[in-house]
Order: sequence, then C-alpha cells, then structure tokens
Amino acid sequence: MGTPPAVPDRYAVVGFPVDHSHSPRIHELFAHQTGEFIAYTRLAARPAEFEAAVAAFVARGGKGLNVTVPHKEAAFELADEVGPEAESARAVNTLSFLAGNRIRGDNTDGVGFRRDLGNNHGLSLDGKRVLILGAGGAARGILAALLDAGTRELIVANRTVQRARDLLAELATPEQFSACPIPELRDHAPFDLVVNATSAGLYGDSPPFPPGCLAARTLAYDLVYSPDETPFVSWARRHGAGRAVQGWGMLVEQAAESFAIWRGIRPDTAPVLRQILPRRGR
Ligand code: ATR
Repeated sequence: MGTPPAVPDRYAVVGFPVDHSHSPRIHELFAHQTGEFIAYTRLAARPAEFEAAVAAFVARGGKGLNVTVPHKEAAFELADEVGPEAESARAVNTLSFLAGNRIRGDNTDGVGFRRDLGNNHGLSLDGKRVLILGAGGAARGILAALLDAGTRELIVANRTVQRARDLLAELATPEQFSACPIPELRDHAPFDLVVNATSAGLYGDSPPFPPGCLAARTLAYDLVYSPDETPFVSWARRHGAGRAVQGWGMLVEQAAESFAIWRGIRPDTAPVLRQILPRRGR
C-alpha cells in the first residue's frame, strides 16, 4: 500500500465582497517562504450566510479563516474563546478551528498596525501625539491597540463627536485620550501621527480636517489601501504631511500574525510587502 497523497491544510478569507482580497497571495508567499503546506482561498458570504459558510468550511476540514468586512463583529460572537486583543476590539479577524469543535477568535489588526508603524515606518509612539479620524469599527481596533503605546496625547475626532466619546468611555481609555469635533482640530498643534479610520474614501475636494494638524514630522496613515493613491493620502501630501502612506504594511503584518497563530512560525514580512506593494499605492 502506498502512502496517501498529502493534502494541504485549508485556510481562507471570508468576507463580502472578497474577490479582490490580497490575503490568498500574501499567505501563499508566506507558505512558500516557510515551507508550510497550506491551501488558502476566498470565501464569499453575505451577512446572513456567515455562520453557515464557516460551518461548511469546518466540515470540509478547514483549519482557519481570516475574517474581513462585514463579518468581524459576527466572528467575535461566534468564537467560543477569544484573545485579549479581540476582547478589547470586540471584533475578530482570525478564526482557528480547534479540537473538540471549539472556535478560537483573535484580532491581529492592532498588532499589525503597531508593527507596521514601528518596523516599516520607524515610528515609535512613545511620547507622541496621535490623531485618529473616525469612531467606527476600524477606529475601535486601532484605539484598542494603542491603549498601552505610551502616547503623550491621543485625540479621536469624528463627524459625530458623541460616538467618539462613547468609544473612549467603552474602552476605558487613559486620561491622555480625548474626543474632539473635527472643526475644533483647528486649535491643535500638528500631530506626529494622523490615522484615517473613517470609511470615507469620499472626501472629494473638501479637506477632511484642518490642515494645521499636518507638518513635516507627521506620518499620515490611511487604513484604506488601494492600487492608486487614496484621496486621504494625496490630500495629506498636498497639505504638508512629511509622509503619507496607505495600510499595505498593516495588511501584510496582520496576515503574518494570523499565519503565526495558525502555523506557529512567523514569516519575514519585508520581502512579501515588497512583492505586493503596488507602484502607485505607496
Ligand atoms: P468602519 O467599520 O469602517 O469604521 P463604521 O463603523 O460605519 O465603519 O464607521 C464609519 C466611520 O467613518 C465613522 O467614524 C463615520 O463618522 P460618523 O460616526 O459621524 O458617521 C465616518 N465617516 C463616514 N463617512 C464620513 C464622511 N463623509 N465624513 C466624515 N466622516 C465619515
């Protein structure tokens, strides 16, 4: 009797839409680099289909899922146990299917963001002033990751300022964190880091916030990533930000953390980032 053919461990990214997800390519590069034998695909599921899609994937022997929009909160609810980052963010981007039918949920977005800032952009947040634009799900994940970053001041500015206040209260943020209506940002000195965590690629020509927030020392960071320059990045460049970047690095770093959770080995992200970074999207 011959040995049965080896079957790769199966992973996927579940979301809607998910057609353009870069995760399969990133994980394929990680697997190649580390010699891990995995297959990683895309799983399209509308909100009403999410739980059934996960169950079917598990039934077919799936080992883990990355979870993207709009399912991160549903994945948090689905998990039997969650890591501390997922607990703070109340959102899960990494599901692991454990023995005994248990589902583990982790959130690697925050650590991916911190690693991208520190390793790829050389920015330590210790003693720095940070501005986060937006107070929705994306802002929550970032904020949860920055609770212990040693920032001197952190402001969450949102169109609906009450939502920013509620978010800070819910996360029990330290005293140097505060909420601010966008127009009142006029009264603030430039920040070291300005993060666009709004869902708006929709600023058009109107400035999203007072340009006095930006200076040569500012890193403007758009959580959105695109093959082309995003409106926020081009706006920040034109209005004096020393550096303006998209979230490509965070995408690769969060993927590396997920890979490490699943496979117990952390890939080297630098060569993978170089391979997926579009020429115009830096
Ligand atoms: P996500 O999960 O992507 O964060 P969300 O929870 O719907 O999505 O949050 C969207 C964020 O983008 C909110 O901060 C929202 O501001 P409001 O809370 O005032 O709605 C912000 N946002 C969306 N469109 C915006 C616009 N045109 N201008 C400014 N902020 C906008």
